[in-house]
Amino acid sequence: MAETIRWGILGAGSMAEAFARGLKFVPDASVSAIASRNPDRAREAAARLGIPGAVAGFDELVASSNVDIVYIATPSHLHREHMLLALGAGKPVLCEKPFALDADQAREVADRARARKVFCMEAMWTRFLPATRRLVDILDTGQIGEPRLLSAQIGYPYVFEEGSRLWDPQAGGGALLDLGVYLVSFALTLLGPVEEVAGLAIARGQGGVDENVAVSLLHARGRLSSLAVSLSGATANEAVIAGSLGRLRVHEPVFRPERLSIRPASPIRPGAGGGGGRLAGLKGIPMVRSLARRVEPIVGLVGRKTRSELLPIAGNGYQYQAIEAMRCLRSGEAESPLLPLDHSIAVLDILDRIRRSWRLRSSGA
Ligand SMILES: NC(=O)c1ccc[n+]([C@@H]2O[C@H](COP(=O)([O-])OP(=O)(O)OC[C@H]3O[C@@H](n4cnc5c(N)ncnc54)[C@H](OP(=O)(O)O)[C@@H]3O)[C@@H](O)[C@H]2O)c1
Repeated sequence: MAETIRWGILGAGSMAEAFARGLKFVPDASVSAIASRNPDRAREAAARLGIPGAVAGFDELVASSNVDIVYIATPSHLHREHMLLALGAGKPVLCEKPFALDADQAREVADRARARKVFCMEAMWTRFLPATRRLVDILDTGQIGEPRLLSAQIGYPYVFEEGSRLWDPQAGGGALLDLGVYLVSFALTLLGPVEEVAGLAIARGQGGVDENVAVSLLHARGRLSSLAVSLSGATANEAVIAGSLGRLRVHEPVFRPERLSIRPASPIRPGAGGGGGRLAGLKGIPMVRSLARRVEPIVGLVGRKTRSELLPIAGNGYQYQAIEAMRCLRSGEAESPLLPLDHSIAVLDILDRIRRSWRLRSSGA
């Protein structure tokens, strides 16, 4: 592989631009071409982003000898088709999230990539950010003990727009596929394989997509996730992982975190209270006993300092996933160990199971 890896960008919309800007932070990467269905749009995007090649049509892009790897930034319902196109031309692929519309599509693409021994990865960029890597390390090293519960939300009060991909069920719209994919991937990474799912969704009817979704996941070892995504509500956009020895907070926005806080906690004996029985000597006095019952459950947290870590993201952050893809290309790995294809398949399989389990209700709002 040449020293500089040359990217071809398939699609010329907002993510295509964001990714091209992110790549400017990667010294051994270049973008050699960008493709649109429309030649004028391709030329305009290439000029705006300083890309030498403007290509009309996607077949030409994947066939280009100037392209080492293709980044796919088309709407979600086209990911399968465009990944198969690139893989068919023998080109490695980094494809925007969600990887596909459902697990069957994801399996088909994974089978093709594996049969051709060509690199393929979902552009689940959050997984590669410094804070997410640190988060995994904090959990792996037992700094909050055994993780038991994860709660996380992503949601914004988006204004309904006719034709927007967010509200278009055919284009992979809806809160679950567009936003839930982040949280399910996050939960899988942090708490491990999922055994059971349950979900509820409310649709307002606009576009007919799921607009607010609440999901519970039962992971292996009895761990639980409680996830919520919304296209109409301003959620905290945070995550909290409750462990047996403390809690870990992933500050807003959870899909692009830069700050983590760890708050240690002591195990608390019910009845005896926490904090190592600090009031034990006075417990013969009824008033003290009653006060102790109320106070001791929180004593375990008092005096234990919250520790925050800042893990800044360079630029817009879209380059970290590209750096991992390029590392894999150079080392001859067809899948990233941090985000293998089975992970993307598992995420979509969970989304499929959630969709099968819910009854779409109208909020009447
Ligand atoms: N990672 C993230 O943070 C993030 C954020 C937003 C979106 N995304 C994902 O990125 C993908 C693209 O989203 P976006 O916001 O960049 O969309 P967008 O601005 O609408 O761009 C999509 C591009 O796809 C091309 N395209 C090709 N065939 C098309 C078709 N049949 N219908 C519509 N467009 C077609 C269009 O280019 P031409 O018309 O020029 O051919 C268009 O510019 C989605 O899968 C989305 O989930 C990821």
